[in-house]
This record gives sequence, structure tokens and C-alpha cells, in this order.
Amino acid sequence: MSPKNNLSDTILETKALTMHFGGLMALNSVSLKIQRLSITALIGPNGAGKTTLFNCLTGLYKPSGGQIIFNKSSRESLHLNGRAPYCVSRLGLARTFQNIRLFNNLTVLENVLIGGHCRLKSGLWGALFRGRKTKKEEKDILEYSHSLLKNYGLAREAGSLAKNLPYGAQRRLEIIRALAAGPSILLLDEPAAGLNLAETKELEEIIEKVRDLEKLTIILIEHDMSLVMSISHQIHVLDYGRLIASGPPEAIRCDPQVIRAYLGAAAS
Ligand SMILES: Nc1ncnc2c1ncn2[C@@H]1O[C@H](COP(=O)(O)OP(=O)(O)OP(=O)(O)O)[C@@H](O)[C@H]1O
Ligand SMILES: [Mg+2]
Repeated sequence: MSPKNNLSDTILETKALTMHFGGLMALNSVSLKIQRLSITALIGPNGAGKTTLFNCLTGLYKPSGGQIIFNKSSRESLHLNGRAPYCVSRLGLARTFQNIRLFNNLTVLENVLIGGHCRLKSGLWGALFRGRKTKKEEKDILEYSHSLLKNYGLAREAGSLAKNLPYGAQRRLEIIRALAAGPSILLLDEPAAGLNLAETKELEEIIEKVRDLEKLTIILIEHDMSLVMSISHQIHVLDYGRLIASGPPEAIRCDPQVIRAYLGAAAS
């Protein structure tokens, strides 16, 4: 899919979203829209509030004010404010973290299975008595986990401990684990951090493959401007907790306010 084509409606929207920590306004009345099936980037200087926004969207932080609206489908609209992380994850938002958070002493496959766990519908009784329905669900999740590992190039490492993977593969495993939850929105917090040029190029291909194969919406926090500019449909720019610009890459690249606040330093 070309970045400019086939964009449909709004899947996620914040209205005057505010998050303060004591006197610090980490998010100051942020209103933005994310289009369904787009790749949307969130950029801005260190401390601008990007991760805080992800934490609010995924239930880790309870916003101080404003609204988060998730249009699950064209007919079902939900408010996410105040929902617990596991609940947000079940609704279809999955994320990776700025600092890798894998289960280091579990295998690659086990990490992915844990990601898929939130899809189990059979609940506590199912887990205790493991009836036919539970076994079928577990088998499906196992098969799906293997297929994700295969599609995204980690099939051979399925039995390796996560901690023994090279750094770039660990970053990839985090994405695969998030995908195992079967999200409709995937939130990636600085997936290219610490990657070299070749690994960043590989990551770009993986993100595009995810978009095409999984048919989902991707929100990406990233400081690597060449990655951001080449794969994003839409970019939102935060500075000191405020949204200072929104638009396609070509508009953001030459926006004087964005250049002053961020790109002057980051894009060179
Ligand atoms: N739990 C918290 N308690 C207190 N202050 C916090 C908390 N989380 C974030 N902050 C503050 O909120 C501001 C925004 O932080 P945030 O992590 O969202 O920035 P960021 O845009 O992700 O930056 P970076 O590019 O460095 O990751 C910072 O000043 C940070 O210190
Ligand atoms: Mg951050």
C-alpha cells in the first residue's frame, strides 16, 4: 500500500488530553487523530511527552484530563480513559517499550506465547480444567505464534533464550510479541533506538510488512528522521507537552516551528 493511498477513517482520537506530574505538564491539551491503517509518527525533543502519550493511550497512566476515543469499528466507539492496561490490550492496542522489556530467561517462542495470552477467552475455569475449547484456543495461539516468528524472521531462534538474541533481534521479538495479541493498533516506542544503519533499514521493511500483512494501524515514536520521513503517512510533533504541528512528512519537514523546536537538531 502506498503511504498516500487508502487511508480511511479515524481509529483513535485524543481530545484535550492532559497529563501532569505535580507542576509538570507532560501533556498539555493534546488533540490529535490517528487514521485507520496508517503509519503515524510521533516526534519531538527528549521530554516532549511522547512516551507519556503512549502510557496514557495504553492505560499505564490515568490522564489528568481530556478524552481518548477508540473507534474500534465504524459502529463501535469506546472511551479508553482510566481502563487498565490488560483491558486496553484486549480491546486491541498493543505496544513495545522504549527500553526492551522481554522475559529474558524464557525462550523466544514463550515470549510470543505470553503476548498471545490476552486472546484466551476461556478464563480461569478453562485454564484449570483445560477443556476442549481451551485446548483448541491454546493450539491456535501456538500455531499463530509460530507463523509470526516465521513471517518476521525469527523461526530458527524459537527455542533460544530471549537474552541470547542479538540486540536487533530482541527489538524485533518485542514487535512480534506485541503482534501476538492480535492488535488493531500497534504502538512502537523508539523501535530503532540502538540499531545500526543496516538494522534500521531491516526494521523499516518489517514495519511495512506488518502494516501490509496484519492490516493494522501503527503509531511510531522515533528520533530517526530518515525512517520517520520514509514510512509515515502522518506526523504529529510534540514540544513541551504541546502538539505544535500535524501533517504529512513533506509539510512537517519544512515547518518553521518544527525546525526550530526539533528538526534543526534531529534531522541533520
Ligand atoms: N511517571 C512520571 N513521573 C514524573 N514525571 C514524569 C513521569 N513520566 C514522565 N515524566 C516527565 O514527563 C516529561 C515527558 O516525558 P516523556 O518520557 O513522555 O518524554 P519523551 O517525549 O518520551 O522523551 P524521550 O524522547 O527522551 O523518550 C518529562 O519531563 C518526564 O521527566
Ligand atoms: Mg520516550
